Amino acid sequence: MKNKIYIGDNYDILKSTEFEKFSGKIKMIYIDPPYNTKSCKSYNDKTSSITWGLFMKKRLELSKNLLKEDGVIFISIDDNEYANLKLICDDIFEKENFVGTFITKQAQRSNAKHINTVHEYILCFAKNKNKLHKFQINRMEIPEDRKMINKLTKKVRDILNEKGLEIANKELKKIIKDYCLEYNITWLKNYSNIDENGDIFFSVDLSTPGKPRRVKIDSIGLELEPLATRGWSSDNKFIKLFNDNRLSFKDGRPYAKHFLYESKDNVPSVLNFYSRQGTNDLKKLGIDGLFDTPKPVELLKFLIRISTKKDDIILDYFAGSGTLAQAVYEVNSEDLRNNKYILIQIKEPVNEKSDVYNNCKILNIKPTVDEIMKYRIKTYLKSKNKDEDFEVYEME
Ligand SMILES: C[S@@+](CC[C@H](N)C(=O)[O-])C[C@H]1O[C@@H](n2cnc3c(N)ncnc32)[C@H](O)[C@@H]1O
Repeated sequence: MKNKIYIGDNYDILKSTEFEKFSGKIKMIYIDPPYNTKSCKSYNDKTSSITWGLFMKKRLELSKNLLKEDGVIFISIDDNEYANLKLICDDIFEKENFVGTFITKQAQRSNAKHINTVHEYILCFAKNKNKLHKFQINRMEIPEDRKMINKLTKKVRDILNEKGLEIANKELKKIIKDYCLEYNITWLKNYSNIDENGDIFFSVDLSTPGKPRRVKIDSIGLELEPLATRGWSSDNKFIKLFNDNRLSFKDGRPYAKHFLYESKDNVPSVLNFYSRQGTNDLKKLGIDGLFDTPKPVELLKFLIRISTKKDDIILDYFAGSGTLAQAVYEVNSEDLRNNKYILIQIKEPVNEKSDVYNNCKILNIKPTVDEIMKYRIKTYLKSKNKDEDFEVYEME
């Protein structure tokens, strides 16, 4: 299948016969609907809560049928309609399938009179929570963890370069203790070794329950005496670990290296993908000022990574500037995947009095959101020297 972009009203498209072929096929839906807040210039965003609720309900009901049995939906929302949306979703997806709510940092300040609200939410429901796999994420994908890991690694690598492996290993143990206190964490304490490449790792024991056995593998020069009451991992495992430079020894005993940069965690509920980053993402493509509220690419990459595998279909039916498409391309190229996206965006005219409208004129783009979205995706692909690989269906 090719990536697909449908232009038109998402309700009409979701219930069209054309869309029936995706029934039960979508692994992840991400939507960022209008928040019903009136604060946005590039598209219409204010009705009563009841009207908004009905608008969402009709679309969410159709979403459920599209999801695979192990599929999941993420919905961005803010304080204004969170409670309303949660009840609608409880009704449609059923309470047992509520996976949780992420809180995402959205700004440094708001100008509200009472509470300086700097967050939004992402509500998550499964089609069938029992079938949904565990959400896990590489710590390097969590901004605070990545910062901490990079800082720690740099510090120990400097010691390694200056003073050698033995001293670096000794000092690492002290530094790890300090980091656990400073960052109020315990998981890091096992990552107390560094190898000659400057990679920090945690040693995983290679004995196994079972009969004691002698190991002698000439091709990698490994000889191990039998243990008193346990066996050793298989020869193949030792050979693979050796070839991958993941075999380490302590007091003559072999261990597998589990690198810090590969460590994983359950996903946290509070995320710090600063939302204004979405605007910076457009800036990086040289097209800022074309959309008011783009989501950060990294946030959508995070959601894709925790909920999809290699060959999944991902749908966004409030596509806006098409951030989801860029996120899918980036995850595909970084993780060697072949996920596909389907975007739906209505041909919504941009307010003639807005800067976005003027910017469209300057760039010679028709001032409708669907045109802005296509322009963004094409600009992204061009920046990566990639061919256009999506089909566009005009459904109006
Ligand atoms: C909050 S924006 C989405 C922003 C997007 N996540 C991004 O990162 O650029 C919501 C979008 O939904 C679109 N929209 C609103 N009603 C729609 C409908 N009935 N069908 C399709 N798109 C619609 C709006 O035009 C707007 O672009």
